[in-house]
Amino acid sequence: MPGRASRAKQQWPKGDSSWFVHDRFGMFIHWGTYALAARHEWVKHNERIKDEDYMKYFRHFNPDLYDPKEWAIIAKNAGMKYFVITTKHHEGFCLWDSKYTDYKATNTPYGRDLIRPMVEAFRSEGLRVGFYYSLIDWHHPEFPIDRIHPQRDDKEFRKNEKHRDVRKYAEYLHNQIEELLTLYHPDILWCDFSYPGPDGKGKDDWQSEKLVRLIRRICPDILLDNRLDLPGSEDFVTPEQYQPAQWPTDDKGNRLIWEACQTFSGSWGYHRDEMTWKSVKQLLWMLVDTVSKGGNLLLNVGPTARGEFDYRARERLEGIAKWMKYHSRAIYGCTASSYTPPPDCRYTQNGKRLYLHFMEWPFGGTHLPGLGGRLEYAQFLHDGSEVTFKDNDTGPWGQSHGLPPKGSVSLHLPVVKPNVEIPVVELFLK
Ligand code: GLC
Repeated sequence: MPGRASRAKQQWPKGDSSWFVHDRFGMFIHWGTYALAARHEWVKHNERIKDEDYMKYFRHFNPDLYDPKEWAIIAKNAGMKYFVITTKHHEGFCLWDSKYTDYKATNTPYGRDLIRPMVEAFRSEGLRVGFYYSLIDWHHPEFPIDRIHPQRDDKEFRKNEKHRDVRKYAEYLHNQIEELLTLYHPDILWCDFSYPGPDGKGKDDWQSEKLVRLIRRICPDILLDNRLDLPGSEDFVTPEQYQPAQWPTDDKGNRLIWEACQTFSGSWGYHRDEMTWKSVKQLLWMLVDTVSKGGNLLLNVGPTARGEFDYRARERLEGIAKWMKYHSRAIYGCTASSYTPPPDCRYTQNGKRLYLHFMEWPFGGTHLPGLGGRLEYAQFLHDGSEVTFKDNDTGPWGQSHGLPPKGSVSLHLPVVKPNVEIPVVELFLK
């Protein structure tokens, strides 16, 4: 029937997500000339800075302490299995030596390409490579001024720039993505972002359909995010700056592949004075919570203008590394469990291994609903020490005394919380 086919959602080919849903944990890196301003990667927008004024950051960009090997080792020690770097953020500055622009790292005082050594360093530490690429570009001369452009309120400027042609910009964007993919064959492409509607931009501006075909042609296995304004073309969805209440699903209730992206503090780019830093425990809990709902966590670092992870980021990453050393098998290869955990706890599960994570430490023990008769063995993950347990067979007397319900299992726990941020008991199911 005519019309039918066109109304049906187009089926887009998918990349290879098998490694992604296993690895679970990655590092986001937001780096660009906004690191010099050190007050949010949206500073150009927030302060309505003109392009010529913003160029001072380009003229002074010189990350002399940049050592991607060190970054890669820190990420690896924290248990991260992949990373996603902003090859270009909304400001338009390119970290690689793109042949399509002069606005790139090689033309700053630093004078060198930042992406090649980064890709090499992370790959040699065994991490997979992801590229973030901003669809938005506040520097490109053909990018039409819109409602989020830094000079959105400058009427004169808007009038003078009316001639800007989004098709020319789209050509630049396609060329750059083609260049990046051809040079590096990354595992992930993270395009950001669309805001269709009045004075915004979406799939027609980016020519998303053509772009997706280009991407799949060069890198058939690549994993693509969902911000091209082209539903169905994505491999994974990207909740940002909040923890989903449950496993995200499509309109038919099918569970989606998802990755939460989160910052240490309130900014993606390096922000000197932003103080709302999360604690190591909060961050670990976000990781556990994410995996307990079947997702991945992409945790962001905003390196400084000198090219380092600042002391607060290092502290958090070291804390995460300490925990991951003992607990990574409750993360890698794990997903949501169908069992319901006790209060203040989360389950992650890998086949017959069920991992019980404690946000709060209870007194003396805890009771696991629905696991009566199903446990074979239990131990702490941090030291491999046995955790004894008992199947409950509670009768009327027990019920009237508040004993654990029939069909549950009680774990016997030490009074003192083990010396780890989030204790985990590994439960071996029969
Ligand atoms: C956004 C922001 C941004 C950040 C990103 C990460 O939409 O514009 O600055 O790069 O999301 O998810």
